[in-house]
Amino acid sequence: MNHFPQDFLWGGALAAHQCEGAYLEDGKLPSTADTLGVGYVQRFTQGYQEIEPNKYYPSHKGNDFYHHWKEDIDLMSQMGFKCLRTSIAWSRIYPLGDENEPNEKGLQFYDQLFDYMLSKGIAPLITITHYETPWHLAKAYGGWCNRKLIDFYTNYCQTIFTRYKDKVEYWLNFNEINTATMLPDFGCGFHKSCKDPDFYQQVYQASHHMFVASAIANKLCHEIIPDAKIGMMLAGMQSYPETCKPEDIYETLKYKRESLFYSDVMMRGEYPNYTKSLFKERNVNIEIADGDLQLMKENPCDFLAFSYYMSSVITSDTPKLKNTGNLTKGITNPYLKTSEWGWQIDPVGLTSYCIELSDRYQKPLFIVENGLGAKDELINGSVNDDYRIDYLKQHVKAMAKAIEDGVQLMGYTSWGCIDLVSASTGQMSKRYGFVYVDADDQGNGTYDRYKKKSFDFYRQVIETNGENCL
Ligand code: BG6
Repeated sequence: MNHFPQDFLWGGALAAHQCEGAYLEDGKLPSTADTLGVGYVQRFTQGYQEIEPNKYYPSHKGNDFYHHWKEDIDLMSQMGFKCLRTSIAWSRIYPLGDENEPNEKGLQFYDQLFDYMLSKGIAPLITITHYETPWHLAKAYGGWCNRKLIDFYTNYCQTIFTRYKDKVEYWLNFNEINTATMLPDFGCGFHKSCKDPDFYQQVYQASHHMFVASAIANKLCHEIIPDAKIGMMLAGMQSYPETCKPEDIYETLKYKRESLFYSDVMMRGEYPNYTKSLFKERNVNIEIADGDLQLMKENPCDFLAFSYYMSSVITSDTPKLKNTGNLTKGITNPYLKTSEWGWQIDPVGLTSYCIELSDRYQKPLFIVENGLGAKDELINGSVNDDYRIDYLKQHVKAMAKAIEDGVQLMGYTSWGCIDLVSASTGQMSKRYGFVYVDADDQGNGTYDRYKKKSFDFYRQVIETNGENCL
């Protein structure tokens, strides 16, 4: 059996607004994420509102990584991490987003972080923007609907590529860009209800601007850091038809295609031939400036990164449709167990999903998020999280199977390797980590770190290059 390559990048993943906290420290200004309170429905539907003085906002404290980063990197190093995926908070570098000069203190924070990681043999994999836009850009410009965002993003990329060119080899454009059609608040920096008649028009126009911005970022990255690799990032999910009824197959194909539209564009560098029918069906007519398409064609992404938490079941019998997880419309799969938040756990689906993506794009893949969100209980300074160990084992096996099939997999970074704030709910109690953080959903607690049982298990996974799971 062909197991994990020797240079496989094992590690963990974080995102600035979910862990750093310090949302106004050292010159940083709010991002869109800093205006979202706790609560599943609210975070998806309320949009950005002015920050109220006495209300609790989870991202303002995160897991306090801004003040614990050294200790956290030490813990990751003890687990043997080869790689850490995290994001740069755009509003730390350009607090408003449209300034000419960056915030030096913000740049210094990441300098020391990356230097320390490198001293421990941990390669940074950096998401340029993870579900947050400087709030000023959302308010004053309407987020990515506005073409001017391309210039601001370019300026930001130019700054961080130049500053970190000797420290960061792996980069990612927008986090889970394909969620734009479900969560424009998170991805595109503007609030729009999907019931608005021009919803799709706005979202796809914003997406086009993000495609052009990514192409420019890819070009700049290769010019400034010739050895670097820059990828795109997809919310990955396997989807199955409910039955072999041809209508179910057709609906599933359409559902998948809508999600893979983003990778079709960014990995191949051009709009796929079904764009016309997709846009016609949704009454969309986007503006494309001269030179956009050529830029996109000449600068596709080097690799495809994706998150993978669950799978979904698609039916043509629409009355049966109901939500089964926060990012998926579908019905219950009777063969799968779910997490406490209703996410359908499906390691076998990870194997087939990897194979599908690899066949479709023939480029390297990187699993940059995966993990089990669970309510952990801290007892005598530890957490007995056998459920997380089991989840991890199954997913490592699934990756090995994909590699055996010929999939070129660059690495695996487990989501929220240190407990952090949930993106969908704002809860701390939806925990993913191998390290427990003593904080509750309202920001009470010591923020002390405790190793869970899974900490040692993951250390062994890395030490044996995955063999202990097979
Ligand atoms: C991905 C996001 O969708 O899933 C992360 O990129 C997020 O930001 C992760 O945290 C898990 O989702 P949640 O809602 O459980 O935090």
